[in-house]
Amino acid sequence: MAKFLIHGGKKLKGEIEVKGAKNAALKAFAASLLFQEPIVIKNVPLIEDIFRISELLEALSVKAEKIGDRTFKISGNQANSYVLKPEISKAIRASIVLTGPLLARFGKAIFPHPGGCVIGERPIDIFLDAFHEMGAKVAEKDGSYVLEAERLRGAEIVFKNISATATETLMMAAVLAKGKTILCNAACEPEIPYLANFLNVSGARISGAGTHTISIIGVKNLHSKKPFITMPDRIETGNFAVLAGLLGDNIIIKNCEPAHIMIFLKHLRLAGVNYEKGTNWLKISAPGRLQAVDIRTKEYPGFATDLQAPFTVLLTQAEGKSLVHETIFEGRLNYINDLNRMGASITICDPHRVIVEGPSSLRGRETESPDLRAGLAFVFAGLIAEGDSIIHNVYHIDRGYERIEERLQRLGADIRRIK
Ligand code: EPZ
Repeated sequence: MAKFLIHGGKKLKGEIEVKGAKNAALKAFAASLLFQEPIVIKNVPLIEDIFRISELLEALSVKAEKIGDRTFKISGNQANSYVLKPEISKAIRASIVLTGPLLARFGKAIFPHPGGCVIGERPIDIFLDAFHEMGAKVAEKDGSYVLEAERLRGAEIVFKNISATATETLMMAAVLAKGKTILCNAACEPEIPYLANFLNVSGARISGAGTHTISIIGVKNLHSKKPFITMPDRIETGNFAVLAGLLGDNIIIKNCEPAHIMIFLKHLRLAGVNYEKGTNWLKISAPGRLQAVDIRTKEYPGFATDLQAPFTVLLTQAEGKSLVHETIFEGRLNYINDLNRMGASITICDPHRVIVEGPSSLRGRETESPDLRAGLAFVFAGLIAEGDSIIHNVYHIDRGYERIEERLQRLGADIRRIK
């Protein structure tokens, strides 16, 4: 298993480019199953989760071919099975997104409980309930879920919680359903209108994506007209802004959309990190003194849960006490004890809340990447710590960030991958 060896304390300088968004590209791969022809997806990040969804599709006889630099051709139209391979589905949460298109296409889907990062319970009751509302029979057999519906029918679906992947999955299921579907209490993450626009260009009739109410009028089929160009990864953007706030000297973040992380940027400024921005770039000034600021994670457009761990690392360097309130996932503060072992002073109040007292000097240590987002936060902790750190289980980081060590090296970071 690969690990990262980090020697902390180096200042960083230069430019860093944001790659395509994992959580947008994965959904476009799934959408390929709805089409009559192959689709082309551009600006795809070359990360482990993309390789896993490609393998899942290939097991359905779909070709996921890399035809150029970060460009993939996906022949979802050739799918000949509705059974998701359990070993791979259990490795990525996004496998659940395939169920909507499979059900729309074949009238059947068989899949195990999806896996992914261990950040909390991660139920799928919202999906199952919604499929049921659309006329599907939902059963469990031999450890798998079995969904069946001759043709899904439009329905008014009220999500009990706001869920990004449930919104995307049901939106895709409804595109080919009979009649009109209304998704109430839908998620508003930018990846959702992005996907809806792509589907609309291809013949779908979706309105309201990006708001809490989405209407979809079912159509007979979708035709590939234009490539899906993956939007920039807003979580990568936020991570690089944190890193620049910790160690940077006027770092420029390119190919990003600051408009997608406005509330996060507001908190960054409140913590003492200044920045300038354009429509597709951010320049983070050399930080002065950092100060405490409370954060509370929230569905979009609120402070993204995916940015909570790196921001907490930043708060270990801020003067005063900050409350971090993680409202989305109950397991997303599991990395705190490791930060404390590195010298941070963080009090765990309950599974959802911690108080960070800073500034504290971190010391290099050996840690294990617990999940994708906390994994990169440990890299940042290692980069600001005194001495050497070793981070094991780098696979988790590779799931969502493309060759991160090489990109950080270009900024001057002392980080190496060792097998
Ligand atoms: C998506 O996960 C993202 N994953 C996550 O990114 C992200 O953290 C999350 O949205 C929140 O923004 C993908 O897009 C693949 P949810 P998702 O369903 O859709 C509860 C990353 O690091 N819930 O919006 O799985 C759930 O327990 C990942 O890239 C139910 O109760 O999250 C949670 O409290 C991690 N029943 C809340 O909803 C359900 O059936 C939000 O979860 C589904 C969810």
